[in-house]
Amino acid sequence: MIFDLTEDHIMMRKMVRDFAEKECGPGAGERDEKEEFPREIWDKLAELGLAGITFPEEYGGVGADYISYAIAVEELSRVDASVGVTVSAHSSLGANPINLFGTEEQKRKYLVPLAKGEKMGALGLTEPMAGSDASGTRTTAVREGGDYIINGSKIFITNGHEADIYIVIAQMDKSKGNKGIAAFILEKGMPGFTFGKKEQKMGIRSSATYELVFDNVRVPAENLLGQEGQGFKIAMITLDYGRIGIASQALGIAQGAYEQALKYAKERVQFGKTLAQFQINQFKLADMATQIEAARLLVYQAAYLASQHKPVSKASAMAKLHASETAMWVTTQAVQIHGGYGYIREYPVERMMRDAKITEIYEGTSEVQRIVISNHILRE
Ligand code: CAA
Repeated sequence: MIFDLTEDHIMMRKMVRDFAEKECGPGAGERDEKEEFPREIWDKLAELGLAGITFPEEYGGVGADYISYAIAVEELSRVDASVGVTVSAHSSLGANPINLFGTEEQKRKYLVPLAKGEKMGALGLTEPMAGSDASGTRTTAVREGGDYIINGSKIFITNGHEADIYIVIAQMDKSKGNKGIAAFILEKGMPGFTFGKKEQKMGIRSSATYELVFDNVRVPAENLLGQEGQGFKIAMITLDYGRIGIASQALGIAQGAYEQALKYAKERVQFGKTLAQFQINQFKLADMATQIEAARLLVYQAAYLASQHKPVSKASAMAKLHASETAMWVTTQAVQIHGGYGYIREYPVERMMRDAKITEIYEGTSEVQRIVISNHILRE
């Protein structure tokens, strides 16, 4: 696929790059160290419209396309991957299911404040016994009069505790397998809805990751998203789009680490030459740049298909698979080029390598992406 970026895409990159370098860069290392959520940055980026890039203007969004969204998450993550995933999980996992499956009332009540960034969103899908096997959810929802009663818990929830609106996936009829699952919109503060453990992570340490606990949470029937029995498909389709966000995050991490490595290689002198004058490092940098460019094409292609309302499942899985493995590989090479300096906190590549790892895990591991891709290939 060959395409030109539009003026809007170029402007988006410039705006978000300026914002990220000015607002996110200076404190990124310290927030990582202290596991401090970037709340002030969230408030500022929401003012710029970055909380609702792809959502229609009539629902509080910017009405831009998915390539603009990919560029924004890429540019934030190039500087601070925790900010990148905060935006991605909010937009793709918290707000987009309402955009795709919500009723007019649900969109007015929930999508509008989410798209404007007045509220933050999250998705509660993963459980201790339901990770890659997402249909194994044990959280239950039982209809009682005009309400549903939700019991159970979720783990590893990005934006947990910080978010206001949660899409929660629950089992209504175990005998029906994945067709017995439903999705609900929950609000922080609903009686019985509390937060458990805050996770201490290897990377993306300033993004919030919490356990959600549901103890007889009474959710009004109008907060059912889609129909009873559609919850698993809603989750899968949400993830199809969500993986574009994580692929963009991975791309940004890789780009950031590559730039750091290139700069360092031009400056650092050993044996009377800069590192960049050694062919072994030139080839390493060439491979890094090539892998990143390939990842970028896959990410923008998936984003393009999403904007065209074409099937994205295979393309987003390929983009996420390649971009996340590129991020891990490129950040490892960037640390290697930095030598001992790459292994200490003073240089950002140390954080970037830790941040990269999660992109091969969340929103579907690399193994799950290969399942999704091979399922498509074998069906075609
Ligand atoms: N779109 C629409 N329908 C889909 C679909 C999709 N992408 N994927 C599956 N379905 C449908 C299938 O068509 C099938 O429907 P029928 O029963 O009508 O035929 C049904 O769903 C079941 O499909 P499968 O048999 O393929 O489902 P499975 O149980 O074998 O699971 C899987 C497949 C790909 C492994 C899936 O479970 C999966 O994606 N797992 C990973 C989950 C994941 O990504 N978790 C991440 C959690 S969120 C997170 O990390 C967020 C964060 O905080 C950042």
